[in-house]
Amino acid sequence: MLLLCTFLTLCFSAVHSQFPRVCTTDEALRDKSCCPAWEDGSPCGSLSGRGICRNWVTNVQFPIRFAARVPQYDDDRLNWPRDYFNRTCECFRTYGGFNCGDCRNGFHGEECDLVKTVVRREIRELSLPERKKFFSYLQLAKTTKSKDFVVLTTGDRHDRSTYRFVDATIYNVFAWIHYYSTHAIMTPSSFDLSHTYAHRGPAFPGWHRLGLLFLERQIQLLTNDEDFALPYYDWRGEKNCSICTNNFMGKNDVQGNLDPSSYFASWRSICSSFHFNDAYCPGVDHENEMERLLRRPGTHRTIKTLPSFKDVEDTLKWSVFDRSPYDAGATRSFRNVLEGFMRASDGTTSATTMHNQVHVYIGGTMSQVPISANDPMFVLHHCYIDKIFELWITKYNGNPTSYPNNDQPGQGPKECCTPYFPCFWNKDLLRKSTDLGYKYSTYQGS
Ligand SMILES: *[C@@H]1O[C@H](CO)[C@@H](O)[C@H](O)[C@H]1NC(C)=O
Ligand SMILES: *[C@@H]1O[C@H](CO)[C@@H](O)[C@H](O)[C@H]1NC(C)=O
Repeated sequence: MLLLCTFLTLCFSAVHSQFPRVCTTDEALRDKSCCPAWEDGSPCGSLSGRGICRNWVTNVQFPIRFAARVPQYDDDRLNWPRDYFNRTCECFRTYGGFNCGDCRNGFHGEECDLVKTVVRREIRELSLPERKKFFSYLQLAKTTKSKDFVVLTTGDRHDRSTYRFVDATIYNVFAWIHYYSTHAIMTPSSFDLSHTYAHRGPAFPGWHRLGLLFLERQIQLLTNDEDFALPYYDWRGEKNCSICTNNFMGKNDVQGNLDPSSYFASWRSICSSFHFNDAYCPGVDHENEMERLLRRPGTHRTIKTLPSFKDVEDTLKWSVFDRSPYDAGATRSFRNVLEGFMRASDGTTSATTMHNQVHVYIGGTMSQVPISANDPMFVLHHCYIDKIFELWITKYNGNPTSYPNNDQPGQGPKECCTPYFPCFWNKDLLRKSTDLGYKYSTYQGS
């Protein structure tokens, strides 16, 4: 394991996201340094051998086709985290986190020497008390201010002097990370709408894997429950959204409002109504003005069903992880079929399938990409997408070498998955989930 870690120095840290609160002081931003002191008073816990503060070296080698385009970009997220930090912690052995004060995923305890693999189960496999516990944990994450992280807001993305870092609750940091990553890429005066950092390319499954790990770990820390695992929703072959009832995720009226007596009726969407390109979540400090969650399962004009058992089987037929041009047009690509841009059976016919189909089917908040993570349905859905990703990894012995060179900005194999912090290389998310401290139950379907 030690040998492995020297090879993969950056890959194994616990998932924490930008921006660590202590790294957003004027001083830290001016020096571009994010090497906070740990309990022993030394940066990155270096005196205790937990980690070291390193100059951050760019690993990006843009392919020729893309290199020609790069100078046209003026995006704060490109070549992450270069625009914000050029010195960050690198944690040793089983330590992790932005200051090496936490453990890498799958390790626990003061000294990070306890190995643990949590099991993610289908939400209908949970007992009633377990389910209620999950909902109360989510509620706590939705209402507890994150002590470690802040979020970025601005009304004008082109004017860096207007960028501000503000408080958010733990769940809202999670929803914000997705929002931030899905925004169009900035050019000096406009936007490139054809790319995002989290979708439409090989980073898609790993990006979402990291997001879920972030939320899961934050809830473990918040509740002091190291056994906590996110549940998933196996929607295969469902006639309707059978968990859209008040015992589970909540029922809705024809307008899409959640029933007042359902668990998430009072939730508001961070960054909602502000998902236009030229801003980053400008209303974030006025949470009471945000809209409530909306859901309209089964009422879409054309997408009237959830994916079938066969769709999932067909998706797993595609043995090549991703193919050129590594975007929403890639054919016979496992990633593009899973993401839902191609019909699973032939891999070549454009259609709204799999991951995309479920977002559209559920409707409302879930169907608007930038704010979709506000609905906890997103968590259950993406855990199931991640389970299918994991089935593919097992079936084809997927590993970091399966991750292709490609020219999607931010999605190169050795680019840091944007905007997670410290750096995780995109390719290093393509590995067995047990390496990251979790696995999935074998649910056969309802
Ligand atoms: C990091 O950025 C700061 C501020 O721009 C600069 O002074 C410093 O030389 C940079 N360090 C490295 C290692 O690039
Ligand atoms: C799903 O369909 C079943 C059978 O038609 C029905 O009883 C149930 O109320 C529906 N559930 C929802 C959430 O619409």
